[in-house]
Amino acid sequence: MKFFVDTANLEDIQKAYKIGVLSGVTTNPSLVAKERIKFENRIAEICQLVPDIESVSAEVTPNAVMADEMIAEAEELIKINNGDKKITIKLPMTLQGLEACRYLTKKGVKTNVTLIFTVNQALLAARAGATYVSPFLGRLDDISEDGVQLVTKIAELFHLQKIDSQIIAASVRHPDHVTRVALAGANIATIPFNVIEQISRHPLTDQGIDKFAADWKKVSQ
Ligand code: E4P
Repeated sequence: MKFFVDTANLEDIQKAYKIGVLSGVTTNPSLVAKERIKFENRIAEICQLVPDIESVSAEVTPNAVMADEMIAEAEELIKINNGDKKITIKLPMTLQGLEACRYLTKKGVKTNVTLIFTVNQALLAARAGATYVSPFLGRLDDISEDGVQLVTKIAELFHLQKIDSQIIAASVRHPDHVTRVALAGANIATIPFNVIEQISRHPLTDQGIDKFAADWKKVSQ
């Protein structure tokens, strides 16, 4: 399973990139709004900051409701940095979003269909040609449903039917989510940097480092 970082914050993206685990970045209108910066400029900055990764998701704005409006926004986004191939158009899981997805896929543009909450939605998105499908597990857990179970079922179905859209486990909130979606067969988990930091740590690792340091000090003295 690959790691994408789920943020529009340059510092967090840089931190994930520096440790060598980053394959992509996902943004959404809420994450971009937090940064208080022009959307297109931030996407351009992200692409420049992490040149050799697979994908940077840029979502069409909530103003684009009809397929032609989404396509018009996508056509501007894919011009960023002279047509950076990493730019992946993130589209909402609606009939209009699927129509835009099919259109863009035919043009060779990478797409990420977002806000997926059922296996059927994932299947539709895949058949519309989505490069990536994004089931939101944390938001399902929030309403007392099992988000990881959804990822498990989508992975089983895509394997069974030889579907090559990649599953991005999204709305990942804590380390246990990361382990469980990896075991479920997600191709990618997109996670906030604080969760990447959490999964790097264990109290016994910290204790071990302290003990080595203390023992080493004794010998050095
Ligand atoms: C994924 O692409 C989304 O940006 C994200 O994972 C949403 O997560 P949230 O439910 O924590 O807002």
